[in-house]
Amino acid sequence: MSRKLKIAIVDDEPDMRESISQWLVLSGFDTETFASAEDALKVIGADWPGIVVSDIRMPGMDGIAFLKRLMGLDSSLPVIMITGHGDVPIAVEAMRIGAMDFMEKPFDPDRMTQLAKKGTQMRRMTLDNRDLRRDLSEGQQVMSKLIGSSPVMERLREDILDLGQADGHVLIDGETGTGKTLVAHALHAVGPRASKKFVPVSCAAYNDEALAARLFGPIEDGLPAVEETRGGTLCLEDIEALSEPLQARLLAFISEQGSPADTRIIAISNARGEGRKAEDSLRPDLFYRLSALQITLPPLRARGEDILQLFTRMSEQFADEYGCEPPQVSAQEAAQLLQAPWPGNIRQLINVAERAVLQNRRGTGSIASLLMADGDDNQQATTTEGKPLKEYVESFEKMLIDNTMRRHKGSIASVMDELCLPRRTLNEKMAKYGLQRSDYL
Ligand SMILES: Nc1ncnc2c1ncn2[C@@H]1O[C@H](COP(=O)(O)OP(=O)(O)OP(=O)(O)O)[C@@H](O)[C@H]1O
Ligand SMILES: [Mg+2]
Repeated sequence: MSRKLKIAIVDDEPDMRESISQWLVLSGFDTETFASAEDALKVIGADWPGIVVSDIRMPGMDGIAFLKRLMGLDSSLPVIMITGHGDVPIAVEAMRIGAMDFMEKPFDPDRMTQLAKKGTQMRRMTLDNRDLRRDLSEGQQVMSKLIGSSPVMERLREDILDLGQADGHVLIDGETGTGKTLVAHALHAVGPRASKKFVPVSCAAYNDEALAARLFGPIEDGLPAVEETRGGTLCLEDIEALSEPLQARLLAFISEQGSPADTRIIAISNARGEGRKAEDSLRPDLFYRLSALQITLPPLRARGEDILQLFTRMSEQFADEYGCEPPQVSAQEAAQLLQAPWPGNIRQLINVAERAVLQNRRGTGSIASLLMADGDDNQQATTTEGKPLKEYVESFEKMLIDNTMRRHKGSIASVMDELCLPRRTLNEKMAKYGLQRSDYL
């Protein structure tokens, strides 16, 4: 996957531009020159196959504004800034925004070559990784979205892989926002039906007549869902909203199918959230057919350490997206996250993580206030559901070691220092929590 990368040189002074370009070409690089940031932005976008060298002082859009735009387009694009002699504050600012490095004028050819080499190497790695990710099958991609390493989560992954291969219809239930739709999609994507259609239909979103037509036809254009999903998967969301006549039709449709079924049905029930059960709203024979295989998703508050892992990963993703730093979670905040009731489950947590990142960028607010604001309607920010203290402490300890290892890129000595832990204790704890130094290097 070797590719020839380009170096974009952006400088309003023609002499400077040309001399940098000539030098880099002599050193074996491909270059492209631009007289302004505006011109460069017409060409450079996300996944741009190269790196950027830019002057800071330019008429029109200056180098700092340009850098911000680039970071917004692709936060891992290596950008080397050229600063005036002694312009330290601006260089620092550029590094903070995300520049790879800076170079003082007058330009030092050897340093230029060195930085260009380092930048292009980094870029090649980023782009190769992105290609690899794109080459992953849809199933692997959906599975990689599932965050969490609690025992419940590990079992869920195994269930998905097992049931994905099976042919029976599946019933998924769980409170709102626990991942039912995502899991349904994963079940389809990891199995032999992956190349055929996955069609979600919400039974609560249509009136009876429209739903009957959507499922069984006739419809004006396209195919009804049961035909569209031949060989594939029909995902029936809000199954308990299905009226009695339609339950009868669905049952008849299921009974007519051979084995293995042409259309695999994944029914999703939201009843659990309202304190009911799916079997109370469905006729028993239909329930029996649909629930040949069953997956129940646990509420987030019962998933212990996953809460912190999800929060960390989600806030890193949002920080990446917004081009800023993820918030550091204090001990007290970690405890609050673990104890919150999370009535909206993972969807709510994603929401809180995004707002925490935005707050952090503005330098205001606290995680506690976000949890409070969210629970306002009917809940308080502390849970009534008891969980052993030990579990909180362990989750927190794991997150702390994980974060510290990441910050110190796997340097055991620095982590021992920061956490005041003797080497042996640190090793024991890492083994206990399944953390591996090699993951942080
Ligand atoms: N294990 C997980 N790891 C990471 N993200 C997850 C996980 N489970 C769910 N999500 C994300 O959480 C959000 C809610 O998930 P999803 O829509 O599947 O929930 P749901 O149970 O179908 O909700 P509803 O009852 O409202 O339909 C989605 O953005 C989804 O991608
Ligand atoms: Mg859903």
